[in-house]
Amino acid sequence: MLLTQDLALTVNPAFRRDMLAGFSRHPKATPPIWFYDHRGSQLFEAITDLPEYYPTRTETALLASHGADFARAIGPGRAVVEFGAGSARKTPHLLRAIQPAAYVPIDISGDFLHASSAGLAAAFPGMPVLPVVADFTHPVALPPAIAAMPKLGFFPGSTIGNLEPHAAVDLLRAMRGSLGTEAMLLIGMDRVKDVDRLIAAYDDAAGVTAAFNLNLLHRINRELEGDLPVEAFVHRARWNDAAARIEMHLEAQEAMRFHVAATPFAMTRGETIHTECSHKYDGRDSRLLLRAAGWEPVEEWRDDEDLFSLILARA
Ligand code: AVJ
Repeated sequence: MLLTQDLALTVNPAFRRDMLAGFSRHPKATPPIWFYDHRGSQLFEAITDLPEYYPTRTETALLASHGADFARAIGPGRAVVEFGAGSARKTPHLLRAIQPAAYVPIDISGDFLHASSAGLAAAFPGMPVLPVVADFTHPVALPPAIAAMPKLGFFPGSTIGNLEPHAAVDLLRAMRGSLGTEAMLLIGMDRVKDVDRLIAAYDDAAGVTAAFNLNLLHRINRELEGDLPVEAFVHRARWNDAAARIEMHLEAQEAMRFHVAATPFAMTRGETIHTECSHKYDGRDSRLLLRAAGWEPVEEWRDDEDLFSLILARA
């Protein structure tokens, strides 16, 4: 059963507002949610298949191999609310293990969400699938049909890493509020590790991550009547050790002037637009982050190399 709650938008005033604000900042910085237009979502899917990008395959393997643990620790009958569902390729492992009462995938990219929701609805007949097209970093109204059900928040992919720790705590606390007092949360977090391995995951040999990063500029040119010289930018991935995060930047290779939504901007040679943070968490850090937001960790699963953690917490 597939019920459509919301439909895709046409022109996006929030995109315009965020890009104008981000380009006016010093240093320039833009929120990563705007990577995910149709092309960006396709490129991200391609990233998840790259040999260097370990998070997706590591987390998927954890989900596939711990079904019995999830059945015991979570149990059946919950409404699973997935934040940032995207193509939801790893979700079937969880749904199969715990037999939920309903599945509510939330994602900003409507076409991806509806395609994947239709697939899941077909694979799990009898389980209501209620997709919500929304930016889950803002309060999201959950479908009334799941109001009375106990919830399991599912927040895989280390998406939490995109947020600064203060914003991550705010978001996790807001999730606790919207999911209710009986809720549980299954969250994926990427761990601190060897810097070369981290950099390689965000600067792959095939250049897919570079294309993903540069796609933001193509999107600006197309949707906001921009005239950014995309060929004059290069992708950079840096490890910021003090903040324990990978940063992605777009670096201007020459001095330039351009427009975004009829507003003039200039960049010097070597100046960057900071387009993404991907925070990495050690064991204690990850648990403290959850506890600071009102979630008590109850169980954790990791791969043999300690690359990635799946943590189950209780409200
Ligand atoms: C979707 C935010 C988890 O930070 O690893 C992948 C996005 N950026 N390669 C990540 C991303 C560059 C990804 N998250």
